[in-house]
Amino acid sequence: MKVTKAVIPAAGLGTRVLPATKAMPKEMLPIVDKPAIQLIVEEAVKSGITDILIITNRGKGLIEDHFDRVPELEFNLSSKNKDSMLKEVVDISKLANIYFIRQKETKGLGHAISCARSFTGNEPFAVLYGDDVIVGDNPACGQLIKAYHEYGLGVLGIKKVKEEDIHKYSSLKVENLHDNIFKCTDMIEKPQTPEEVLSIYSILGRCILTPDIFDILDTIKPGAGGEIQLTDAMRELARQKGMLGVEYEGTRYDMGNKLGIMQASVEQALKHPEIGESFRQYLKDFCKNL
Ligand code: UTP
Repeated sequence: MKVTKAVIPAAGLGTRVLPATKAMPKEMLPIVDKPAIQLIVEEAVKSGITDILIITNRGKGLIEDHFDRVPELEFNLSSKNKDSMLKEVVDISKLANIYFIRQKETKGLGHAISCARSFTGNEPFAVLYGDDVIVGDNPACGQLIKAYHEYGLGVLGIKKVKEEDIHKYSSLKVENLHDNIFKCTDMIEKPQTPEEVLSIYSILGRCILTPDIFDILDTIKPGAGGEIQLTDAMRELARQKGMLGVEYEGTRYDMGNKLGIMQASVEQALKHPEIGESFRQYLKDFCKNL
């Protein structure tokens, strides 16, 4: 079955980016001039996704507004003949069919995904983590969808992380099938001892799930950090019938931590058509005094 639906969990508290996230969702933090979540929606659309469910909670109304029309702003831009900006603003609301649901309690990523059950029905669906922006010519989500269509198994977007950092991530038991495609048969969230580490491959930001994940999620008890972990449910799926890992191409920015936000801003500002050159010059001058 073709993957046309995507879920973007965006209901986390963003405690690592406080105080910026006290009232503003971290998913709305901009990379130069686009909110992270817009870049994520654009990646999904480029990957063939037509319907997107964004999981929100209290205080995330800004996300809904961003994908809506804004008549007074549009009138203002139109009366000043700012036609290209007007088009850009209007086009955001036409990217895809975007739906919203609230996760009423912040019980973890696994719990957030279980809120998507009636939206996805019996179809496979993509999950794009709302604070992970992946930039590249070949959309990461599309690379995973291609693998799903090839094998019909759930797919994890994976990358290697530094050995000393693996305790902050998931760790996967993987075996290479061909090129950048792996079979994954086990995983653990935030391994606490070296014995628990299965490899330095981790799930980073994207996956394709099959609808059987929902029955498993219903049985999952709170895990690492007291949260209902999506990794714990995916482990069951991996153990029962195997999942795939795709070591995707693309640069991932973690907008859930301060360093990630700064890396995204600096690197993308250098490539920005409007300010790229002047920012490069500024950065060169600034670095002379570092
Ligand atoms: P994170 O664990 O990175 O988000 O979840 P967080 O809980 O906001 O992080 P900190 O530790 O407090 O800074 C990854 C994605 O899952 C969403 C988040 O919004 C983020 O996009 N999420 C997380 C939910 O939708 N619901 C949850 O209960 C937890």
